[in-house]
Amino acid sequence: MRLVGEMRFPGCPEVVSDVRIYAASWLVRELPEAADDANLLDNVRLLVTEIATNAIRHTISGRWRKGAFRVRMWLGSGGRIRVEVRDQGWWSGPRLRDDANETGGRGLQILAAVATRWGVRRHWLGRTVWFELLVQAPVAGGTAYLDEPEQRDLFPRQAHA
Ligand SMILES: Nc1ncnc2c1ncn2[C@@H]1O[C@H](COP(=O)(O)OP(=O)(O)OP(=O)(O)O)[C@@H](O)[C@H]1O
Ligand SMILES: [Mg+2]
Repeated sequence: MRLVGEMRFPGCPEVVSDVRIYAASWLVRELPEAADDANLLDNVRLLVTEIATNAIRHTISGRWRKGAFRVRMWLGSGGRIRVEVRDQGWWSGPRLRDDANETGGRGLQILAAVATRWGVRRHWLGRTVWFELLVQAPVAGGTAYLDEPEQRDLFPRQAHA
């Protein structure tokens, strides 16, 4: 995959709107057609908001005076967009909370519902939470599939008696 954007942010809630703006602008800079895909851009903004907020709320990134987190965006083949948020860690990690009556625990549920793929990678200090979305393939102008030409033996050997 190709790295198309990277930025380190201080771990305070005020920066989350900047995270959204950077993520959307990295995407549009690399893939101008994404500007017309409001759904895709909204999903990138929504999911990066959830995982950046988690880094701030649930890890040292947001609990230490000098805490920070890093956001990266990658583009891969087949229209794959990958966004990563690397935090500075906590004793426990992200966990899907499955009680619809709770007021919290919605962020990772939204991530799991909207992302094509998502996951968590552990480092010696902190974790990377990542998700992937797919750019909708543009409507093709028609792909021609040519049949293999028939293999004809144009000069059949004369059968010798
Ligand atoms: N980056 C992270 N590092 C450590 N723990 C995390 C991280 N992200 C999430 N968690 C844990 O996973 C739980 C579920 O996260 P989730 O985002 O679903 O809910 P929430 O942040 O508690 O509430 P909400 O997102 O609905 O405001 C959190 O309560 C927290 O305990
Ligand atoms: Mg959350």
